[in-house]
Amino acid sequence: MYLVDDYLDSAWLRTTEMAAIAAARTVGMGDRRYSDHVAVEAMRTAMGKLPIKGEIVIGEGERDEAPMLYVGEKVGSGWEKENAPRYDIAVDPLEGTNMCATAAPGAIAVMAAAEEKGLMKAPDIYMDKIVVGPTARGSIDINAPVEENLKNIAKSFDKQPSEITVVVLDRERHTNLISKIRKVGCRIKLISDGDLSAGIAAAVKGTGIHALMGIGGAPEGVLTAAAMVCLGGEIQAKLKALNQKQEKRLAEMGINNDEKVLLTKDLAPGEDITFVATGVTKGDLLKGVRFFSGGIRVHSLFMSSRRKIIRFIDTIYKENDSIPINFQ
Ligand code: FBP
Repeated sequence: MYLVDDYLDSAWLRTTEMAAIAAARTVGMGDRRYSDHVAVEAMRTAMGKLPIKGEIVIGEGERDEAPMLYVGEKVGSGWEKENAPRYDIAVDPLEGTNMCATAAPGAIAVMAAAEEKGLMKAPDIYMDKIVVGPTARGSIDINAPVEENLKNIAKSFDKQPSEITVVVLDRERHTNLISKIRKVGCRIKLISDGDLSAGIAAAVKGTGIHALMGIGGAPEGVLTAAAMVCLGGEIQAKLKALNQKQEKRLAEMGINNDEKVLLTKDLAPGEDITFVATGVTKGDLLKGVRFFSGGIRVHSLFMSSRRKIIRFIDTIYKENDSIPINFQ
């Protein structure tokens, strides 16, 4: 069993490492679509080598809009083999496409996997989220006023609200939320993008981040939930359709009540969740990809909920045929 787990762990890890390395070669080029494209391509190639029957449940879009890693795509080399394990997979080969394109900190490559039906098939719309780590788990209620949540979070940490830092995406839609947080006296870290890595950072001690609040992508919410299951944190969320197209998408999925509260276990109900992220540019949690003469150094977070493993992995790939240092 250990050998099987170890073999698969390395294969999962390689999917985000390869995506991160490919994206890192485009850092600062100013072309977010190209950065995303190369990350998707690299992750998909690595996914093809996984000895599993995998199906993408959170991906780059629907089949007609995304050629690779689309929702429903079968991945892995195990589909012809009777005994290969079956996994549902959520991917974000480049979370923070703008950050990568502009060489800003915090871009990561991410994936999560679980047994069949272990990850919610969330539509590609928005999601209102509140995320906390293990210390403040059980102290939040997305339906309660912002002020109440912040006071309860501070209490869990045995801190004053002024000692609490909340991450919020810097968007016009958050003007009201930001003024409510300021009124309580908490600190705000405004980020240009990347609420997934910010959510994870809220659940890791030493990052100086205590919570994430506000509206971001729903797919990122499912990936955050997978990470929370592994870290013992909590996410509460509500799907949000911010325009007509998204309302239509919600209705198509038979969801007509966007007030329904989604808890960590609704978003990531799996019993055996694997979560992997690799830094593309330097962030609060992970170092970015570093190229040097003769090698590439990558920094990743690998977690397994079943085996209760949280590993930070620092890997150096010496130049070889599959990862040439200077390929474009
Ligand atoms: P991309 O990596 O797809 O560019 O997404 C970045 C991101 O900032 C997410 O972290 C966040 O959930 C979402 O976009 C917010 O969407 P918007 O930019 O439309 O407010």
